[in-house]
Amino acid sequence: MADASSFYITTPIFYVNDVPHIGHAYTEVAADVLARWHRQAGDDTWMLTGTDEHGQKILRTATANGVTPKEWADKLVAEAWQPLLATIDVRNDDFIRTTDERHERNVQKFLQKLYDDGHIYTGEYEGYYCVGCEEYKQQSELVEGTGEYEGQLVCAVHSKPVELLHEKNYFFRMSAFADRLLALYEERPDFVQPESARNEVLSFVRSGLADLSISRSTFDWGVEVPWDESHVVYVWFDALLNYITAVGYGQDEAEFARRWPAQHLVGKDILRFHAVIWPAMLMAAGLEVPRGVFGHGWLLVGGEKMSKSKLTGIAPEQITETFGSDAFRYYFLSAIHFGQDGSFSWEDLAARYQAELANGFGNLASRVVAMIIRYCDGFVPSAAERSAADHEIAAVERRATDASWSAIGRLAIHEAISSTWELVDALNGYLTVEEPWTLAKDPHQRARLETVLATAYHGLGTLAVLLSPVLPQATAKLWTALGASGAVHEQRIDRAHEWSVGERVTPLEALFPRVEVSA
Ligand code: MSP
Repeated sequence: MADASSFYITTPIFYVNDVPHIGHAYTEVAADVLARWHRQAGDDTWMLTGTDEHGQKILRTATANGVTPKEWADKLVAEAWQPLLATIDVRNDDFIRTTDERHERNVQKFLQKLYDDGHIYTGEYEGYYCVGCEEYKQQSELVEGTGEYEGQLVCAVHSKPVELLHEKNYFFRMSAFADRLLALYEERPDFVQPESARNEVLSFVRSGLADLSISRSTFDWGVEVPWDESHVVYVWFDALLNYITAVGYGQDEAEFARRWPAQHLVGKDILRFHAVIWPAMLMAAGLEVPRGVFGHGWLLVGGEKMSKSKLTGIAPEQITETFGSDAFRYYFLSAIHFGQDGSFSWEDLAARYQAELANGFGNLASRVVAMIIRYCDGFVPSAAERSAADHEIAAVERRATDASWSAIGRLAIHEAISSTWELVDALNGYLTVEEPWTLAKDPHQRARLETVLATAYHGLGTLAVLLSPVLPQATAKLWTALGASGAVHEQRIDRAHEWSVGERVTPLEALFPRVEVSA
């Protein structure tokens, strides 16, 4: 069991058949914000992301492009998936590829153990397979095709025809774990979050669990089954294991004990793999189940899940090039209730950028710093006698600190941001009421002016610390301008309101410059 202060967070590993779109980037930034938040609270934090490179989908894409699957994966990882992390400013601790030797070797070790312990048997599989999902489908998950697929059965997710497979496969006796899974969901109601995801998983498992086909023999792009080289491991079985092979399973017990179990973040479409198959695999191997599985919603475009295969994919750079990575991170995590679907629109993004980031936060920061330069020669003033309004700002700082940290504990990222935004709004309201620019005109009001500016300055520092996980670039600039020592991302976020003030401020460029958006 990992130490209570250990926090290990994962994203799904992404298929390298194509380049990333903003749906993929959404999971990345959510995991990154949680990781940064925990790091700043002093937790022993680890964030893992990576790529899923085996299976038929990748093999077919590579073949269609005239290269080997490994060449294809290498190219996509180097040119698209790793650069994505820089584009959206993700500070992951590790990046695993399922073609890594550390992964393949330990997938085999895991499988061999399950085989030796009697959890695997040989059988015949006949059924429909969707290569897009890399999943066997039940009749109930298929629909009649339309247009060019008229008359064929298509996968409800991809709207592409499924393939009828008939193979000799190895099976994992997953059905044996149904009762233990139900007991797990019962004992740990927050194992699957949010509630809607938990309900879906519960009713799925209650309706009966079949065994799982875990090998394929008609192609060879995968991890070889250790006792039968004519089979490769089913891509999902292989992929799920990344969460433990990346942290030392099979090779570094101390590291594994330090990190595992993980909190998984996944899109709701891949919830069952993580909340049913994965814990059953771990139970079979005698390992601890994950800390939790959180199924987030989809980014929708025109009411449908945004996807490259449906040509609705938007590249993350399209947004970051105009608005910057901070705005990307802020927008998706504040505008969408984490766990629910959210519609993306350029108009909404531009409006929130202007109202919340530029006018709400950026302008507040520029005004306070500029007034300290102008009225106090840049020297940070200290507060004299405090009024009720000044005390209220200090109280809001404390409330925002506590409320946001408690929201993060519940993975309610949107709530953590809105709790912090109460401080942005309170500070803007405070300046409007106190009018330091008017106080500055009257020499008798000098002490009051300094108290107001000291109060606003303190609030800004607290904001910088609290917003650092979401807006790492803007808050680093603000921290420097405030003349505070150290790096903002090293300040304790669970005690944000106790930050140590600096002595002198320096000019601050606009944190969120005006952008011209063409209609
Ligand atoms: N390779 C598997 C995951 C294996 S994890 C052991 C996979 N890859 S994926 O590239 O297709 O999808 C990765 C993630 O992106 C999923 O969590 C999926 O939900 C998410 N998204 C894909 N499109 C999305 C949206 N339009 N909106 C939000 N998330 C979306 O599945």
